[in-house]
Amino acid sequence: MIKVDISNVWGQISLPELLALEKEVFAAHNTLTEGNGPGNDFLGWLDLPVESPTEEMKRIQLAAEKIRANSDVFVVIGIGGSYLGPRAAIELLQGCNHNIGKGKGNPQIFYAGNGLSTRYWNELLRLLEGKDFSIAIISKSGTTTEPAIATRALRAMLEKKYGVVGAKDRIFAITDPCKGALRQMATEEGWETFVIPPSVGGRYSVLTAVGLLPMAVAGIDINAVMSGAFDAKQLYNLRSFENPVWQYAAVRNLLYRRGKCIEILESFEPGFKMMGGWWQQLFGESEGKDGKGIFPVTAEFTADLHSLGQMIQQGERNIFETMVRFDPPADRAVVSADWKDLDGLNYLAGKTLDFVDEQAFRGTLAAHVDGGVPVITMDMGQLNDTKLGELFYFFELSCGISAYMLGVNPFNQPGVEFYKRNMFQLLGKPGYEK
Ligand code: PA5
Repeated sequence: MIKVDISNVWGQISLPELLALEKEVFAAHNTLTEGNGPGNDFLGWLDLPVESPTEEMKRIQLAAEKIRANSDVFVVIGIGGSYLGPRAAIELLQGCNHNIGKGKGNPQIFYAGNGLSTRYWNELLRLLEGKDFSIAIISKSGTTTEPAIATRALRAMLEKKYGVVGAKDRIFAITDPCKGALRQMATEEGWETFVIPPSVGGRYSVLTAVGLLPMAVAGIDINAVMSGAFDAKQLYNLRSFENPVWQYAAVRNLLYRRGKCIEILESFEPGFKMMGGWWQQLFGESEGKDGKGIFPVTAEFTADLHSLGQMIQQGERNIFETMVRFDPPADRAVVSADWKDLDGLNYLAGKTLDFVDEQAFRGTLAAHVDGGVPVITMDMGQLNDTKLGELFYFFELSCGISAYMLGVNPFNQPGVEFYKRNMFQLLGKPGYEK
C-alpha cells in the first residue's frame, strides 16, 4: 500500500477539522462507486483493472511482440489523455534516456501529434531516417487536430516505404469501438484496432490499450501493471481514514478551503517528470472548472530546489506540496574518497548517493514546513511494474473522490473546446465560419 504521511500539515489544518470531513469523503467515494454523480457515464475506468489478462490484453501483447521484432522505432501518436499516460509509465520505469542504444528487438519510442511544433516534427523525421518503424494512432474522438495531422503524414511515409499492404502491418489504431473518423479509417484500411471504451475518458484511459500497447512495446510487463491496479482497486476501496486515498483527497480539499490553491507534486526521481504531467492533466482537467480547483504544478527535486526552492520557501503562502518518494534501487552508488579532498567532500566518502538524497529530502521537508508550507508525503516503496499500476489507480481514485468533494464533475472538460473553436475559425475549418 502507498503510505501517505499527513503529519506535516497540522500547522495549517487540525485533526478535528479533518475528521469532520469523514461524511463528506464517504459520500464522495460512494457517489463514485455507486455511479450517481455528475459524469457517471464515464466511470468505466473504475473496473478496468482485472485479475487475469483479457483477450484484448493478449492481442496487445501479440501486437507488441510483432512491433518489437520488426521496428527500430515505435511512434505513439496522441495528445493529452491519449499520450501522457504511456509516456509517464515508460519514463518512470525506464528513465528519460531509455531510447539510447535501443533498436530492433527493443525499439525506441517517440511521440507525435502531441503539439504543432515544426521543429519537433523535423527532428522526428530525422530520427526516423533509414529506420524501420510502426505507429500507434491513439484518439478516442478520432478527430483531434494535432494527432490527425501527424497521422496523415506518418501513414503516407509508411505507405511509401512499405507499400499500402506492408504499411497495414505497421499501423495500429486505438479508438472508440464504433464512432469517429479514426474508427472509420481503420475499418476501411484494415488496420488492427484496440478499444477505448466509451465510458473511459482520455485522462482515465492509461489502463486501456492507450497505455498498455506502448508499455508492452517498451518491454513492460502489462500483466504485472494490471495486477498492481487490481490489488489497488481492492485495497483502496476501504471506507475510512485509514485509506491513504481518503487521506490524500480529504487533506488537499481542506487545504484548498484554507486558501492553499496551488499543489506542487514533487519527486526526487527525474523519471517521474512525465508522471507529473499525467497527474497534472488528471487533476487539472478534472477539478479546474466552475471557478474552482487546485492549480496542479510539478517539480523535480533536488534540481528545482535550485529554481523554485526560493518561491516555495518564502513566496506567497498559497501553496502546499505533495512529495513522492520511492525506495532506492538495489544497485547503489557510493561517494568515493579523494586523497586531496579539494572539493571538501570526503566527509561523505563511503556514503551512498541515496543516503545523500534521503538527507536532502528530510532537510527540504523540514525547511518547507518551517516556512509555512504544508507537506503531504507519499512513500511508494519499490518502483516496479506492479507499483506503477497501483500508482495510476491510486491517483485516479483520489482524483474522482477529491473532485466530487469539491462539487465539480470530474469527467468533463468543457473548457478545452474554447481554444479549438478559435483555432478552427482562424484556420477556416468548414462549419466554424464567423
Ligand atoms: O482527457 C481528455 O479527454 C483529453 O486530454 C483528450 O484525451 C485529448 O484531448 C485527446 O483526445 P482524443 O483522444 O479524442 O484525440
